[in-house]
Amino acid sequence: MLTITSVHEMQSWVDAQRAAGKRIGLVPTMGYLHAGHLSLVAQAGERSDVVVASIFVNPLQFGANEDLSRYPRNIEGDTRLLDAAGAAVLFLPSVNEMYPEGYQTAVSVDLVTQGLCGASRPTHFRGVTTVVAKLFNMTKPHVAVFGAKDFQQLVAIRRMVADLNFGIEIVGAPIVREADGLAMSSRNAYLSPDERRAALCLSRALAASCHLVEQGERDALRIVGAARRVIAEEPLARIDYVSLVDADNLQQVTELQRPALLALAVGFGKTRLIDNCVLSQRSTVESQQPSEPTENTLDCKLSTVD
Ligand code: PAF
Repeated sequence: MLTITSVHEMQSWVDAQRAAGKRIGLVPTMGYLHAGHLSLVAQAGERSDVVVASIFVNPLQFGANEDLSRYPRNIEGDTRLLDAAGAAVLFLPSVNEMYPEGYQTAVSVDLVTQGLCGASRPTHFRGVTTVVAKLFNMTKPHVAVFGAKDFQQLVAIRRMVADLNFGIEIVGAPIVREADGLAMSSRNAYLSPDERRAALCLSRALAASCHLVEQGERDALRIVGAARRVIAEEPLARIDYVSLVDADNLQQVTELQRPALLALAVGFGKTRLIDNCVLSQRSTVESQQPSEPTENTLDCKLSTVD
């Protein structure tokens, strides 16, 4: 696997691959990789000839009091994992390479970034869409894969790609969970043993709401209430939000009629975790994709890894 740090070299490499008729897959990450990221690399590999994985801890998407300086990093370990996963290139730009002196342009997506995480992190998605737009121009992928745990990010990127005519296929990959149900996240590394145990209330909360829906409940307040009650029983948990929103436009729903996203963000000590599941007429939470066709049954299993 090649490691490329310069934008110019990245673009030259990818131009040569394109000229040779190769289909490029991109997996953008902030590093400190886990099995969830590696599943994105595998999905990109299935849809392309060569996979570029990027690692860049993007300062633009962290708020003033967030965890930029302590964000976990392990470039050596990540390089080994990406190599073993079959990535052709690790793209590893510095902050100065990404945002050279004088940099002043941003890409922002309006409506879908306002609620959910956007309410408490007002500059976050603008940072995400700006860096992802730049990564797209630097790596020129045919297909890019993002995890569905960051569902709002996935929706915003799809919107950006459609609105700005990027012509890139965006794939949303299912959440990968630990055997006990905790969604994999680089931020799980921050949790103390007690917080790690407490954080299991997230998947339990989703499961409780899913169970209610499977029994026929369609009222959003009751569906959300079931999840909130589970989290409220956990003394170490602080709810930021628990919301049921339309899975395509992320607007609040009052009744479950179309595919809806049950999304939550909860703090444990200094760590804020997110999780979600899609309650759809067809798809299980293992195949979370906005805008999927629907059928008539609800199925709410949470996926786990062994
Ligand atoms: O999901 C992430 O890790 C980041 O938000 C992304 C997409 C790599 C942009 O920095």
